[in-house]
Amino acid sequence: MKSFYLAFYVSATWISRVSSIPTPGEGGSVLKTIHQFPNYTWIENMAIRSNGQILANDLSSGQIYLVNPQEYQVAPPVIAQFPNGTAITGIAEIEEDVFYTQSVQGNAYEVKFVPNTTVIWEVDIRGYRKGGQASLRKVVEIPAANLPNGMTLLNKQDGTILIADSVLGVVWRVNVYTGAYEIVLDDSLLKPVPGSTFLFGVNGVHVVDDILYFSNTNQAILAKVPISRNGLPTGPIVTITKSVPAADDFTVDRSGNIWLAENVENTFVRVSTDGQVQTIVGGVNSTALIGPVATAFGRGRDDRDILYISTDGLTENSNGMILTSNGKIASIDTNCWR
Ligand SMILES: *[C@@H]1O[C@H](CO)[C@@H](O)[C@H](O)[C@H]1NC(C)=O
Ligand SMILES: *[C@@H]1O[C@H](CO)[C@@H](O)[C@H](O)[C@H]1NC(C)=O
Ligand SMILES: *[C@@H]1O[C@H](CO)[C@@H](O)[C@H](O)[C@H]1NC(C)=O
Ligand SMILES: *[C@@H]1O[C@H](CO)[C@@H](O)[C@H](O)[C@H]1NC(C)=O
Repeated sequence: MKSFYLAFYVSATWISRVSSIPTPGEGGSVLKTIHQFPNYTWIENMAIRSNGQILANDLSSGQIYLVNPQEYQVAPPVIAQFPNGTAITGIAEIEEDVFYTQSVQGNAYEVKFVPNTTVIWEVDIRGYRKGGQASLRKVVEIPAANLPNGMTLLNKQDGTILIADSVLGVVWRVNVYTGAYEIVLDDSLLKPVPGSTFLFGVNGVHVVDDILYFSNTNQAILAKVPISRNGLPTGPIVTITKSVPAADDFTVDRSGNIWLAENVENTFVRVSTDGQVQTIVGGVNSTALIGPVATAFGRGRDDRDILYISTDGLTENSNGMILTSNGKIASIDTNCWR
């Protein structure tokens, strides 16, 4: 989720970057557009369905699109519509075609979200037919949450997910079957930086093999912590890098590299396991990828090394007036950087 420029990390922008020259594949553009949405579409997060389709959450309009990456520029159907004024953020799948997302009341473009309005939703598309709607079920309200942002599967059997709360600077565990929830991680490395224009601490969260990886936007870090089956820390938090300004959501690949969106930096980077940060596409003054927010690998035989990247498309003039707001889903072939 976007947080705009913060004095805190502006100075960190050019620290310790390795070569920013990508190695594109054979004679083509590195970045492909999968779908260009119209103005006022902010693709905050994505989940990839087992058949390769993309569930794409529009933060600004409370809609979930179902995008077929094989159908270039075909207008994707809206499979869920939340009431006006509802912002939807992270999304995760627990069993096949049963997804969970979360909502908060607010206005994306004003970066104003109302505390105490978090709701966890089930988005069931097992019975989805073309032209139809997902089946929505309210799982639980979490009144004590402030700004739910990234979401990740914790344990399939238990039906548990983890949620980043960017303003409280904590991680919540939610059991989607019982509705039970509690804070499982609360640490200074999850907190926003006081005095920032917009408070964004922990943003993306992803669990891979008992390790919770997280980004913190205001602190410009990526970090990891070993956790138990219940999401509780079993060791200290290790900072992977402190050189990822505007760190938003990310994906961890099979080798442990982290592919990260640096939102207001208009930059997409790869952070290797030793913490080296390499620019993959975009750059502060680039228009190739305006406002990258989140990313996910394909799940098919043909696209398992393809990373989809969603954007908010947001540019403003110096008075904060919106110039463009047309988010998109783009893709890169990660084989170009092996
Ligand atoms: C949604 O609500 C906002 C603010 O209350 C209002 O300006 C806008 O027109 C509404 N949009 C729709 C589609 O109802
Ligand atoms: C509402 O949110 C604030 C900020 O997150 C929190 O301190 C307060 O406890 C919440 N209120 C309720 C009733 O949960
Ligand atoms: C981006 O553009 C600004 C304004 O033109 C310039 O001052 C700055 O050096 C540029 N940054 C990079 C990394 O090219
Ligand atoms: C998006 O909005 C901007 C500013 O209003 C406008 O200049 C631009 O043409 C719009 N783009 C599209 C695709 O509608």
